[in-house]
Amino acid sequence: MLAQRPPMGWNSWNTFGWQISEDLIVHTADQMKESGLLDAGYEYLVIDDCWALKQRNESGRLVPDPIKFPNGMKAVSDYVHSKGLKFGMYSCAGTMTCGGYPSSLEHEFIDAKTFAGWGVDFLKYDYCYKPQNIPGHILYKRMGMALKNSGRDILFSACNWGSDECDKWIRSSGAHMYRSTGDIQDNWQSIKNIALSRMDKECYSAPYCYDDMDMLVVGMYGKGNVALGGCSTEEYKTHFSLWCMMDSPLMIGCDIRNMNEDVRTILMNKELIALNQDPEGRASYRLTQWNNPEVTILIKPMSDGSFGIGFFNFSDSDAEGSLQFWDMGLETSSGYSLSLRDLWEHEEAGVYKENYTCRLKAHACKVFRAKLV
Ligand code: GLA
Repeated sequence: MLAQRPPMGWNSWNTFGWQISEDLIVHTADQMKESGLLDAGYEYLVIDDCWALKQRNESGRLVPDPIKFPNGMKAVSDYVHSKGLKFGMYSCAGTMTCGGYPSSLEHEFIDAKTFAGWGVDFLKYDYCYKPQNIPGHILYKRMGMALKNSGRDILFSACNWGSDECDKWIRSSGAHMYRSTGDIQDNWQSIKNIALSRMDKECYSAPYCYDDMDMLVVGMYGKGNVALGGCSTEEYKTHFSLWCMMDSPLMIGCDIRNMNEDVRTILMNKELIALNQDPEGRASYRLTQWNNPEVTILIKPMSDGSFGIGFFNFSDSDAEGSLQFWDMGLETSSGYSLSLRDLWEHEEAGVYKENYTCRLKAHACKVFRAKLV
């Protein structure tokens, strides 16, 4: 069964936009394998918008652009699979894709068959140019039905940006993950807006259908298609920590052929990924500090009885993070303390009774795995 845990992979859009090609995909596949990203869990390699010709062929099928993909999609898919990766593609529920290419409206079943024939394992399904006369949920239900009956297991990645109150119905369309916000940009304000907009909505994300807070911008540093400003390494750590704690799919969006050491360290932080990939898939709940509402504490209940605990400073100045254990249900009278392991420093941070307090730089975070002792 697909998406038992939040899907992980790489997507071409954030950095490359329309500038995609077989060459890029082949080298990215090589790099996913050689860099250790695949071993860390990143298994889907997804080609986003702008891969097709503007016209379908005479049998009504989508055709890959022969300049970008001279050997067709089956060849690309075979190469991706030969590296032990899974292959993802993109289409849209409206009359055209967001980039102006042919979409799957009224072609859902033939397109699902085409994708299955190419060996596609993942379909991102966008929402631009949606016709007025058909409710959005029907369009996703149609494609969900078409994929399930395509003869291949294809993970359905819905992308309607949280419109039409999709939290309430998207799971029943067959979607395995669903975009709940507008497009991310490579800057702090965008990361902050997305994260805050999905707080207190943890009930909507669970195994087999996860809340997708959009692709990661970690490592873009202001270069590429959605690179509007760039972030510091510290901000990328906070971004990655939030996406892990909130059970978002982890789809890398930077150019992994040129990752620096900081970016590798962030994307391959196995202790943080373990929070995100916990089999029970319980997304974090929020505690707000009464004395500083801009410091958010996230608590993620883990299947082994431990907790992920994250302190996030959304403010523009240094701040204190302080957790009273009583606020997560742990009373002093229980006799228990919390033993904290720092998941960025990869070391034990001590045993605490009743509360824990730390200092946080602007836009920074601390994330712990806490065990009752
Ligand atoms: C929309 C989606 C993006 C990307 C582009 C492609 O904006 O939200 O993630 O797929 O379309 O055109």
